[in-house]
Order: sequence, then structure tokens, then C-alpha cells
Amino acid sequence: MDSSLRKAKNILVKYNQEHLLQFYNSLNDSEKNILVNQILNIDFEKILDLYNNSKIYNKCSIGMISPLKHINKSKISKDDYNKYVTIGENFIQKSRFAVVTMAGGQGTRLGIKGPKGTFELDILPKKSLFEIICDKLKNANLKYNISIPWYIMTSTQNHEKTVNFFEERNYFDYGKNNVIFFKQSNLPLIDLDGKLILAEPYLINEGSNGNGDVFKAMKNNNIISDMKSKDIELVFFSGVDNVLLKPVDPLFIGLTLYNNKEIAAKTIFKENANSKDWVFARKNNKPGIINCSDFVEEITELKDENGDYLYRELNILEHLFTIKAIEKVSNVELPYHLAFRKNPFVNYEGMKQVPESPNTYKFETFIFDAFNYFDDIQLLRVDDEEEFSPIKSFNGKYNPERAKIMYKKCYNV
Ligand code: UTP
Repeated sequence: MDSSLRKAKNILVKYNQEHLLQFYNSLNDSEKNILVNQILNIDFEKILDLYNNSKIYNKCSIGMISPLKHINKSKISKDDYNKYVTIGENFIQKSRFAVVTMAGGQGTRLGIKGPKGTFELDILPKKSLFEIICDKLKNANLKYNISIPWYIMTSTQNHEKTVNFFEERNYFDYGKNNVIFFKQSNLPLIDLDGKLILAEPYLINEGSNGNGDVFKAMKNNNIISDMKSKDIELVFFSGVDNVLLKPVDPLFIGLTLYNNKEIAAKTIFKENANSKDWVFARKNNKPGIINCSDFVEEITELKDENGDYLYRELNILEHLFTIKAIEKVSNVELPYHLAFRKNPFVNYEGMKQVPESPNTYKFETFIFDAFNYFDDIQLLRVDDEEEFSPIKSFNGKYNPERAKIMYKKCYNV
């Protein structure tokens, strides 16, 4: 028996994962190599630790929290509005601004083949989620006579398909040099019995490890140094699926700069008072997003002296970080959360099976956990009718049909 295989077997015995080699004898040589190398490169200790400990993460009690101030876009005076927009526009024109689109997710709820960014909105002509973002960047470039660098985070699962998609469409005329892809990391998926699963008889099923990996991925792929070489000072981060996204928003940028904040987030109002959605708050005096499900009734109606709710700001994954802030959080370990997801697997007979309901835990870090590393954050509440219509699944609230209606309404198409 070759020494790599022996090593791999020992690891699997130690961690009770011997089933991963059950089809080994039927594999060809190159498949055997892939599987053994994958086993040798997985940090089983870490996976086990995450499996046992990330379930208990995020306990939050009412005694730990205090409110976090926000600015409501609809209540900004005309003078202040113009002031912020001017500051934002002056900054954008200096070419110190970049955009990062986090597109490394697997889009499991939507369940389409291929990267979610390639999903087309059913308008005339059809537009992919990537093209929708690109259109807005092109408009900003034209308006301000600049060339905003566009960084796109992919994952092992979708990198090639994403790059090919851009190649086939000539980068939507954005300029190949202005679109920079970088790959995030993976972690194996785990089933309900704590076992890793196979995607193919020769391949352990892994998933991207959450959008919180963006900072480390930027560091490891020299994206931070690339940005520094371009004198970038402020970066906008978002997901790929909000068709009403404003990636270059002078108001948001100007407000953040005026208030001298290192990080910022857009929010929408939580209409459903008692929903368990996580809200912005200070936890142990640090800004963040808290799971208030155990005490939502106690905080949801609380208001400040102006009659504004204290704990009703929802996260929409739209953030600004200064380059210094990015550097700082690229060196910290963000906590992992457990997501329960549907993932295909190879069953004990060697047949590939697609489950009808969630079957696996996925370990993910979230970008918003980086907020805890700062003393303050600029929050800007926007109207979801104008700025938030993501595509998450076909059946839920955030579905393609709603996104199409909202897009047509907002952009008059
Ligand atoms: P979601 O959590 O909505 O994930 O990510 P998703 O991949 O789109 O869909 P589900 O949860 O599997 O159904 C919000 C944004 O964060 C990105 C996604 O691509 C999306 O733009 N993301 C998520 C990453 O870049 N990497 C990840 O590991 C996870």
C-alpha cells in the first residue's frame, strides 16, 4: 500500500470517516490520487471542532445589547442630502473607489445550474445578475469619467463557469482588465451524523465557506495589495443577487466619509415586528447583527426620543470598508455559523442522489461578523422598494418574479 493511502486511511480511522474510501478500489489512478490528496489536505480536527461548537455560537442575551444609531435616508434634509452627495461624488471622481461582488455562494435555495450571477432576469432583453451590476458600474464610469475596478469573488465550485461566462460575453464591454476574479476557500459539508459526504465516488463534497471569507481571500490572492497599488481607499461590498443594488451610491459614500467612519452598512426597516430576523445592535458595546429570537418581544417596540425604533434595522449585505479596515479584518478569524442545506451526495450503493430537503451542514463565516472589530459603523436605512429586491429562491418572498417587477418599476423598462 502506498504511503499516502496509508496516511489517509489512518486519518479517516481517527476521525471515524472510513466510508470516504468505500469506492476506492473501483476508481482509476487519477481519481484515486484526487481522493487521497483531498483527504490529506482536509483539516479534520477543525471540521470536527466546528461541527461540535458552531451550533452554540451566537448566544446573545438582552443584557449584552444596546442600540446602534442609524440615519434614515427619507428623513435627511435637502441640504444635508446635497452635502453628502457632493462629498461622495468628489470622492468617486478621484478614482479611489472599488467594488467587490461576493459571488462565491452556491445558490442552493434557488437551485439553478451554474453560478447564481449567471441567472437571467426575465426582462427584454434578458439580463444576467452579473450584467445588471455591470450596467450600473458602466453608468457610473460614464458619469464620472472614471474606471471603477470590479473585483468578483468566486469559489472552487463556480470559478471556471463564472470566468467563462464573462469571456463569452466579452466582459459586457467593461474591459477585461477592469474585472478581477479571486477565489475563496472551501470546507467539507457534513451530514446529520457528523459524516463528510461524497460528491462523486472520488470527490469529497465541499462548499464555499461563507462570504466572511472575503477579507482573507482578498489577502491571500493579493487583492488588497492590488487595490493599494491603485490607491483605492474605500470599497463597496455586496452579494450578486439584488437587482436594485446601487454599487456606486454617492449619498452612502459621502455620508460615511463625512462622519469619518471606517465601515458602513445599508439597512432596511423590519416591518414584521416579531419576526426572528437578526437586527443591527451593539453587542458588548461593539456594532454587529444580533440574533434576538429569545427576546424579540422585549426590544422590538422600543423607540428613541425621536420616536425611531431602536432595534428594527435589517442587514441587506451592502457595506463600505476603508482599505485599512479591510487589512485589519483580513487578519482575524471570524466565527463560523452552521447553515443547513440541500446538497447532492453519493449514497452507499455509489449512486448520486439529490435530496428533496436539506441534508447537510455547511460551515460559513459572515461578512457582518467583521463589524465587531470596530467601535462604530455608519448605518443608512434605505427604502426596500427602491433598493432591495434580491433573488433567493423560486418560492419565497425574494423570488425572480418579484425582482422582475421591482426592476421594471425602478428602472422604467
Ligand atoms: P447567500 O447566503 O444568500 O447564499 O449569499 P447564496 O449562495 O446566494 O444562496 P444559498 O444560501 O446557497 O441559497 C449572499 C451572497 O454572498 C455570496 C453569495 O454568492 C451571494 O452573493 N456568498 C455566499 C459568497 O460569496 N460565498 C459564500 O461562501 C457564501
